[in-house]
Order: sequence, then structure tokens, then C-alpha cells
Amino acid sequence: MKVKSFLGGFDKNFSYLIWCEKTKLAAVIDPSTEPLEILESIESRNLILSKILITHTHHDHITYLNDYKNVFSNLMIYSFHNSINLKEDYIGLIDNEIINIGEIVLTTLHTPGHFSDSVCYWNKKNKYLFTGDTMFVSRTGRVVGKQSNINDLYNSIYKKILMLNTETLILPGHNYGFKPSITIKDSIKLFDFFQCSSLEEFKIVMMNYEKNR
Ligand SMILES: [Fe+2]
Repeated sequence: MKVKSFLGGFDKNFSYLIWCEKTKLAAVIDPSTEPLEILESIESRNLILSKILITHTHHDHITYLNDYKNVFSNLMIYSFHNSINLKEDYIGLIDNEIINIGEIVLTTLHTPGHFSDSVCYWNKKNKYLFTGDTMFVSRTGRVVGKQSNINDLYNSIYKKILMLNTETLILPGHNYGFKPSITIKDSIKLFDFFQCSSLEEFKIVMMNYEKNR
């Protein structure tokens, strides 16, 4: 499995191009950055873009969806079922679903909190987790918008993400930290967002963050 990140979009967004070296099948996770560089990358490697995977349907994460649809007619679009802001046809995901891109196996984790239709895409074999806006390098996503819920976010972080192998690499939806990606282990070591022993503690950390930002 190969992964290449692209930075741009609305606010230091990351799109990821992932591909299977054996079959050349590829997917883009979040069409959130200007697609030209990604399309060039697909072409220069002779990849076949077959899927677009959406981490959640906040508008900045789906901005360039149509650009891909216009170029690749058989593209399959995946997003959590009953996605809030998606008008196009798409394949509605549930929690714990398997997606194959050639020999790459991804598992979906439904991780509401920042947004109700948030999913993470997990590659168990290589220990990659594409977290969208659920978890960044240094903090979690915020819960100040519509369809946000702090209880849900706590459960998504503490009962799903932090339960994975701690060597797992977090590949977030925005470049908001001191480096582009980080392991779960280092996230727990360095940041109080991931050191809470209860929902109440987590609410205090989140409140302090909002107060001081
Ligand atoms: Fe978002």
C-alpha cells in the first residue's frame, strides 16, 4: 500500500492518494485539495482511480468531488450512509465495513462527534488511520457546529481510535499540528486531549481549548 498526501484546499486540508502497487488501483480520500497535482500523480504512475472515500461531508472535504467525477466516469463514491451534505449518488457505509482497493483492505470506523457522518478509514495491516476531522496531530476535531456532539466525540476517540494498536499512524484531514502525521502512542504521550480518564475530564479539556483559541 502506498500513500501520498496533498496539502491545500480551504484551510490546510489534506487529500490522500492511496494505491495498490500490484493492481495499480487507487483511491482518493477526501477530494478537498486542488486536484491537478493528484491527477498528475495518478497519470505518472499509471494508476486507475476507482474510488473516492469521504471522511465526512463538511463542504471543505468534498469541494472537488465533481472534478474527479468529470474525469473518471466509473468512479465509486463512498461516504457514511445518510450523509448530510452529499447530493450525488454514493455508496452508503456503515460502521465496521470493508472496502477493497486492489489488495488494500480498509475498515470503516463510524466516528461521530465533530460531525454526525464522520468515518475513519483504517488499514490494519500497515497501521494507518485516516481520521478526517475526528482527530488531528495535537488535538481532536471541534464540536461547535451543527451535528456536533461532545459525548459522541469522546466515545469515538476513547472507545474506538485509542483502542487501536498504538503504533497506528494518524493521517488527519487538516495539517493543524507540528508535523503532518503522528502515532496514537505519541498523541497519548503529548496531548491532554488524549489523556482523559472520563467524559467530564474531556469536556474540561475541550472547554479550555475553546476558551484559549
Ligand atoms: Fe469538518
